[in-house]
Amino acid sequence: NWSMETFIEDTIREIRDQVGDRKVLCALSGGVDSSVVAILIHKAIGPQLTCMFIDHGLLRKGEAESVMETFVGKFDMKVVKIDARERFLSKLRGVSDPEQKRKIIGNEFIYVFQEESAKFDDFDFLAQGTLYTDIIESGTATAQTIKSHHNVGGLPEDMKFKLVEPLKALFKDEVRKVGEECGLPPEIVWRQPFPGPGLAIRVLGEVTEEKLHIVRESDAILRDEIAKAGLNREIWQYFTALPNMKSVGVMGDGRTYSHTVGIRAVTSIDGMTADWARIPYDVLERISNRIVNEVENVNRVVYDITSKPPATIEWE
Ligand code: XMP
Repeated sequence: NWSMETFIEDTIREIRDQVGDRKVLCALSGGVDSSVVAILIHKAIGPQLTCMFIDHGLLRKGEAESVMETFVGKFDMKVVKIDARERFLSKLRGVSDPEQKRKIIGNEFIYVFQEESAKFDDFDFLAQGTLYTDIIESGTATAQTIKSHHNVGGLPEDMKFKLVEPLKALFKDEVRKVGEECGLPPEIVWRQPFPGPGLAIRVLGEVTEEKLHIVRESDAILRDEIAKAGLNREIWQYFTALPNMKSVGVMGDGRTYSHTVGIRAVTSIDGMTADWARIPYDVLERISNRIVNEVENVNRVVYDITSKPPATIEWE
């Protein structure tokens, strides 16, 4: 019989008991779990908490800004932002294999975290957004392990910290309720699932700044139109991908030879299976027009109409 008010009160008390007057470090990813963890710990111990936000340059448009605005602007929390964009991009240069890309990003994240956290003084605790489902699923081979999921926020086990895990008895929907109750903005509370390796696995093949730009801008248009059409809570996940393919088009009197952008939108319960979303044609038309008009170097938009299985949700 879960009651949110008592959950928040009890959790705050438990965090205070566990931490005392010592210090906690929390890695913020922009996702709902780490955000709710940070808010709860901040409520419990205020300035004894420092958050670290690593900007790997693979987030969606506006996400890094929104994280800083929310936690620093609205909640007045201590957030150290690490600009690691160049570092990740250079590590990814010349790499086109999807699993290789995931490994590089996961490892790089750990290196950056270790280097940067060593610069701060004496933390005793590390906060983690472990959920109940993470605990019951760990050790069992689920379909998810078909792809190695390097979650940003997944940190090495050999670190000296003790863990603070205030969400470990909660399911995802309960985490969202706590987040809402704590005043987190809807774009964080209702954020659609987003892979740790971010846009790097939505640029198929080698990742370059130019390709990331196309995916980031086209994805922002897609999200904007889906929101305007009021479909954002119905569709489980929606994003654009760059298949790394150019085709011929026509503009004015001239021929173009530019990128194709793919739209992926699925309905699902848990991401294990999924059906392609039946977005109305007029909404698709607006999305397509805006992408070719507003995003440079794109002359064609296609819609992915495969379900999972046999396809996966992501294209890599
Ligand atoms: P697939 O593409 O396997 O995706 O059908 C199922 C769900 O998992 C997400 N996904 C990932 N999440 N790291 C993550 O944290 C990853 O490497 C990764 N790959 C896929 C995907 O967005 C979908 O929600």
